[in-house]
Amino acid sequence: FNIINITFYPKRLKINKRNALFGMGNPLLDISAVVDKDFLDKYGLKPNDQILAEEKHKALFDEIVKKSKVEYHAGGSTQNSVKIAQWMIQEPHKVATFFGCIGTDHFSEILKQKAAEAHVDAHYYEQSQEPTGTCAACITGDNRSLVANLAAANCYNKEKHLDVDSNWSLVEKARVYYIAGFFLTVSPESILKVAKHASDNNKIFGLNLSAPFISQFFKEPLMKVMPYVDIVFGNETEAATFAKEQGFETEDIAEIARRVQSLPKVNKNRQRIVVFTQGREDTVATVVKIFPVLDIDQNDIVDTNGAGDAFVGGFLSELVQEKPLEECIRAGHYAANVIIRRVGCTFPEKPDFH
Ligand SMILES: *[C@@H]1O[C@H](CO)[C@@H](O)[C@H](O)[C@H]1NC(C)=O
Ligand SMILES: *[C@@H]1O[C@H](CO)[C@@H](O)[C@H](O)[C@H]1NC(C)=O
Ligand SMILES: *[C@@H]1O[C@H](CO)[C@@H](O)[C@H](O)[C@H]1NC(C)=O
Ligand SMILES: *[C@@H]1O[C@H](CO)[C@@H](O)[C@H](O)[C@H]1NC(C)=O
Repeated sequence: FNIINITFYPKRLKINKRNALFGMGNPLLDISAVVDKDFLDKYGLKPNDQILAEEKHKALFDEIVKKSKVEYHAGGSTQNSVKIAQWMIQEPHKVATFFGCIGTDHFSEILKQKAAEAHVDAHYYEQSQEPTGTCAACITGDNRSLVANLAAANCYNKEKHLDVDSNWSLVEKARVYYIAGFFLTVSPESILKVAKHASDNNKIFGLNLSAPFISQFFKEPLMKVMPYVDIVFGNETEAATFAKEQGFETEDIAEIARRVQSLPKVNKNRQRIVVFTQGREDTVATVVKIFPVLDIDQNDIVDTNGAGDAFVGGFLSELVQEKPLEECIRAGHYAANVIIRRVGCTFPEKPDFH
C-alpha cells in the first residue's frame, strides 16, 4: 500500500471555495499581556504552565484587561487550526467555516471581530448563561502561563445550533471536516452527526487526539466516532496514551499508527490516514512513510504552544485543495515552523509557501 498514490477525491472538483473546510470546537478569546511576578503570585501561577481556570482565577481575566496592554486573538485549538488553514489559502475568504459556543458579552464581540479579521466564516451558538470562553497568556520575559476558562464553550447545543437548517446547510457545503478531540468533552453527539455525514457522503473527516486525558477519560465517545474518522492527528504523547488505553502493547510509533489505521472503519472507499507528529523528530504518517520536519535553529524558537494547531492548519489548507498527502504534510511543517518563531498562535500577513 503506497500512501503517495492516495486519491482524495474520485474526480477533480473545484474545491477551494467558500465553506469547503468545516471546523467545530471550543472557541476561546486569547488574551495575552505582559504581567509582573506579583500578578503571577496573586493568582498562584507558575511562570511556564498551562492550566484550566479555577474559582480563584475568576477575577484574573478582568484584572489583566484593566491593568495591562492586552492583545486579543481568536483562539481555541480547532479555531486556531482552521484560522491557519484560511491564512495559508488566503483567497477566497471564508473557505473555513467554524462552529462553537460563545456568550453575549464584551468578549464575544471581540471574538467575532477577530474571527472576521481572520476571514473565517464563524457562526457561533450564542447563549447568555455563561460568558465567552477565554485563555489568558500571562507573559513574563520568555515565559508564558496559560489559563483557560472554557465557560460558554462548554455549552454548545446540537439541537439549538447544529440541527438548525441554515447551520446544517453550511456543514453540507463542506468537503473536509476537522474537529479537535477536546470537543468530545462538550458535544460528542454533534461530532458524531458531522462525522456520519462525512462518511455517508465520502467526504474527509479529521479528528485530533488532542491530549492524553481524551484517550483516558473520553474513551467511549472517542471510539464511537473512530469508525468515521479518515484522518487521525496526534503527537507522540497522545499516540502513546491512546495505544496504552487500547491495549496495543507497543510503544513503537509506526506500529501504533498501523494499528490505529486498521481499526474498524465504516466508509471503505477511503483508507484511514494516521498522522503523528513528534516535535523536532520526524512526522510519521500511516505506515510506510516518514517525513522529516524543517530544520530550525533552536535560538529561533520563541514559543512552541501553537505548533500542533498550526501543523494541522497547514495540513488542512492543502487537503482542501485536493493536494496529495506529502504536500499536506509539507504545508503542516511549514505552518508550524512559522508559528514557533512567534509569540502565541500568530502569523505574518502572508504565507511564503510554494
Ligand atoms: C522563566 O521561568 C523559569 C522557570 O520556569 C525561571 O527560571 C525564569 O527566571 C523565568 N524567567 C522570567 C523572566 O520570569
Ligand atoms: C444558526 O443557529 C442560530 C441559532 O443558534 C441562528 O441564530 C442562526 O441564524 C443559524 N444560522 C446561521 C447561518 O448562522
Ligand atoms: C504533545 O501534546 C501534549 C499534550 O497532549 C503536550 O503536553 C506535549 O508538549 C506535546 N509534545 C510536543 C513535542 O509538542
Ligand atoms: C493535534 O495534532 C497535532 C499534529 O499531529 C499535534 O501536534 C497536536 O498536539 C494535537 N493537539 C492539538 C490540540 O492540536
